[in-house]
Amino acid sequence: MTHEIIEDLNWRRTTKKYDPTRKVSEEDLNTLLEAIRLTPSSINSQPWRFVVIDSQAARQRMADTFSEKFVFNKPHVFDASHFVLFAYNPRYTREDYAQVVDKQIEDGRLKPEDRERGFRSFFFAEMNTDENGDTSCWTKAQLYIALGSALHTLARMRIDATPIEGIDAQRVNEEFAKQLDGYRCDVALAIGYHHPDDPNAAQPKSRRRLGSILVRI
Ligand SMILES: Cc1cc2nc3c(=O)[nH]c(=O)nc-3n(C[C@H](O)[C@H](O)[C@H](O)COP(=O)(O)O)c2cc1C
Repeated sequence: MTHEIIEDLNWRRTTKKYDPTRKVSEEDLNTLLEAIRLTPSSINSQPWRFVVIDSQAARQRMADTFSEKFVFNKPHVFDASHFVLFAYNPRYTREDYAQVVDKQIEDGRLKPEDRERGFRSFFFAEMNTDENGDTSCWTKAQLYIALGSALHTLARMRIDATPIEGIDAQRVNEEFAKQLDGYRCDVALAIGYHHPDDPNAAQPKSRRRLGSILVRI
């Protein structure tokens, strides 16, 4: 018997056309956001920020960023139920990590008197910081764990999604600079329910054979 996790993953297809009449419930959206919040990350750094685009005004602003590049992804901005910007911190600092350490104290994972010890693992961030203070390679890798977790969570809830790297990142970062607050968005996620005419919904799943990607020793 196939495990239900595998059924979830086989069920999901990247949606290419959304049914604009169907909206993800607030309850399901909250479940998704909680799954995203619970994403693990290196040293529990959580170097991310998410912008949920829902209002018509915000959708219009997002749609306008698609005027030149990746126009094929533009219809999702209005037709999907929600459009989420996934952003990472390009300059992760000790001050950023202090928020994590203090939350660990608040959550009872670290004793207040051990606060300084909480910073021991920060060397991982330093190791991944270049001479200009850029941490993008490392923080962006953490962000994609959240993206993967979001995709699986949505599949479990039988909600469709489109991970989207086809955005005009420069324009998106300019347009939503205030909401992104210094974080950088290179990838987005549309969520909703596919249209009956979505050409991708009935496509067979296609992945490389396990033998070609796996070595067991
Ligand atoms: C990080 C990432 C970025 C992607 N960007 C786009 C995109 O811009 N537009 C699009 O239609 N699909 C995009 N895809 C969807 C992939 O093409 C799709 O996941 C892949 O072909 C496998 O198909 P499946 O998701 O239906 O299993 C992206 C997927 C990932 C994981």
